[in-house]
Amino acid sequence: MEQLFSEGIKNTPSSFIREILKTTAQSDVISFAGGLPNPVSFPMRELNDSTNRVITTYESKVFQYGTTEGHDDLRAYIAKRYKEKHNLDYDKEDILITTGSQQALDLLGKVLINKKDAVAIEKPGYLGAIQSCSMYQPDFLEIELNENGLNTEMLQHCLSSRHVKFLYTVPNFQNPTGITYTQKNRDEICALMSHYQTFLVEDDPYGDLRFDGEDLPYIGAGKLRNSVLLGSISKIITPGFRLGWICTKNKELMNYLVIAKQASDLHSNIFAQYIICDYLQHNDLNEHIKKIRTLYKTQSDAMLTAMEEFFPSDVTFTRPQGGMFMWATLPNGQSSVELFKKASAERVVFVPGDPFYTNITNAPTMRLNYTNSDPVTIREGIRRIAAVM
Ligand SMILES: Cc1ncc(COP(=O)(O)O)c(C=O)c1O
Repeated sequence: MEQLFSEGIKNTPSSFIREILKTTAQSDVISFAGGLPNPVSFPMRELNDSTNRVITTYESKVFQYGTTEGHDDLRAYIAKRYKEKHNLDYDKEDILITTGSQQALDLLGKVLINKKDAVAIEKPGYLGAIQSCSMYQPDFLEIELNENGLNTEMLQHCLSSRHVKFLYTVPNFQNPTGITYTQKNRDEICALMSHYQTFLVEDDPYGDLRFDGEDLPYIGAGKLRNSVLLGSISKIITPGFRLGWICTKNKELMNYLVIAKQASDLHSNIFAQYIICDYLQHNDLNEHIKKIRTLYKTQSDAMLTAMEEFFPSDVTFTRPQGGMFMWATLPNGQSSVELFKKASAERVVFVPGDPFYTNITNAPTMRLNYTNSDPVTIREGIRRIAAVM
């Protein structure tokens, strides 16, 4: 039987988080494991209004096949927002609507990776990116992340020793660490990348969720010819609609991405695109995002306060300025998988570090999500983890 399956799929790890979520969804377990937005942030009444309005306004059009590139008005809105917020000059032709930014990662893999090609990623990195690239069997070159961003010496070494197809980064409130690249780090990466024929992918689902500090410009968007910027509505409106996008001014890349998307699913859900577009035209997205930021700031503070109070002093952790995650490191190389087993017996779970690396097991690190529990539950969960530490 084994020989019937492709090398690509056999090479692809299953999502550890989805497996954990299966065991925790139904019970009294406190979960810091998922990456779920807080459901109170979903604008349900407004989306209900938009749903009714688009059916009345556009009738059968919202139930028909659409274009691969996506709903024109939605693409134009996204371009306008990047202009307003980041002074970036995207036209709607530079934007491809995708089925979540997860599909953007899959399409980039399809279009750019041949087996054994070099792909540079953060260490630790977003496990969904590791998973979707694995399908195309690249050689992963992991570039260490520190509190300022990427280790640029390692990046330089990697770019000069292999032909790297793309560098994948999450510069704002990174998943899994919560780290934000500093301005200096961004400038250094941009300067380095400008010397190489390599795409720079900036995946930014969390950038709007800043609750401390100042927004920073992107690393390469608006500056590098080979820049690719990914966005998503998942963390600011709803993940269930599965809508994201790819922005690039590189026409050759865009043409191939559109062909790859045609082959994958023809186009993303057109009904959802109309609803979101209508929602954006009739509501103030910035006001909505402000509420989410306030909510997540309270939850992040609750987790930090509890970790400071309960965790042993030799356990270190990041202090995110936004987004959804914190990253803790156990002392003396202790395995967080072992801690996970003990913590789940106490009805609290997190994600051990292992799936965020391409080949490390029993890592001493762990990811904690704070957006999907209230402050009292967060405190209790951290107290339970600390008790088994
Ligand atoms: C860094 C990063 N990229 C992409 C995604 C996928 O998001 P989407 O729901 O837009 O597919 C996630 C989801 O958690 C993420 O953390």
